[in-house]
Amino acid sequence: MDKKRRPIGVFDSGAGGVSVLAQAKLRLPQENFIYYGDSANAPYGTRTEEEIRDLSLACGDFLYQKGVKMIVIACNTATSITVQTMRERYNIPIISIEPAVKPAVEKYPDGKIAVLATPATLQQKRYHALLKKLNAEQQTVNIACECLAELVEEGELSDPHIKAYLCEKFSPYRGTAFSGIVIGCTHYSFVSAQIRDVAKKICGGPCEIFDGMYGTARHIADVLAEEKILNDSEEQGSVKFFSSGEAPHIAVFKRFLQKISK
Ligand code: SIN
Repeated sequence: MDKKRRPIGVFDSGAGGVSVLAQAKLRLPQENFIYYGDSANAPYGTRTEEEIRDLSLACGDFLYQKGVKMIVIACNTATSITVQTMRERYNIPIISIEPAVKPAVEKYPDGKIAVLATPATLQQKRYHALLKKLNAEQQTVNIACECLAELVEEGELSDPHIKAYLCEKFSPYRGTAFSGIVIGCTHYSFVSAQIRDVAKKICGGPCEIFDGMYGTARHIADVLAEEKILNDSEEQGSVKFFSSGEAPHIAVFKRFLQKISK
């Protein structure tokens, strides 16, 4: 098949990466996508480095064998551990996501910024190197959310447990006015309005949301153009979903895609 017409592969530990898929699809409607959610093994964020590496490479292999022209790691946890290995393993462009700390500190150079992510992402050298490069170590408050991806993965976004969990996470920072909140896990994009509301109520400050899904979608488009592999079809592209878990996960992916595409 003509390389330009080949699909773009996107993967995540589960449903979170659908946020990146949705943004990419809005920007590139003519592209075909294959989405793989490793739902049987989600969440990744509390697993060991070795487990995350092995599971992420299995996702990459699945997509590569489907003949994709690009792999998008739509998972902050998998990115922080495997992006380098994937770039060495596959001879196609590998796009990754990282917490959007840069735009947050650029907009609020004197403000406090909360970064919400999985424990694995926040522990990685990659994340600390990013803070160091941006000189943002003093300005950022890291909030590790051990259970949030799992709650979102269940697909019930108005479940009161989500709000209760967020209240518990922000309570220690009562009175710290946050200028910005960085969504450091793709699952959290689906509850970013709830995150902002809870943070505003408990902590105060504008609590502007900074989400890496937009920058990642832009990066996908830029790399496709640079590599001259943009799909030149005039027809609307397709999305095919796969999951390592049970069929209901696919229904959640589809529902989440509609939520962001609206
Ligand atoms: C997880 O599987 O724990 C979350 C994935 C992410 O970091 O985006």
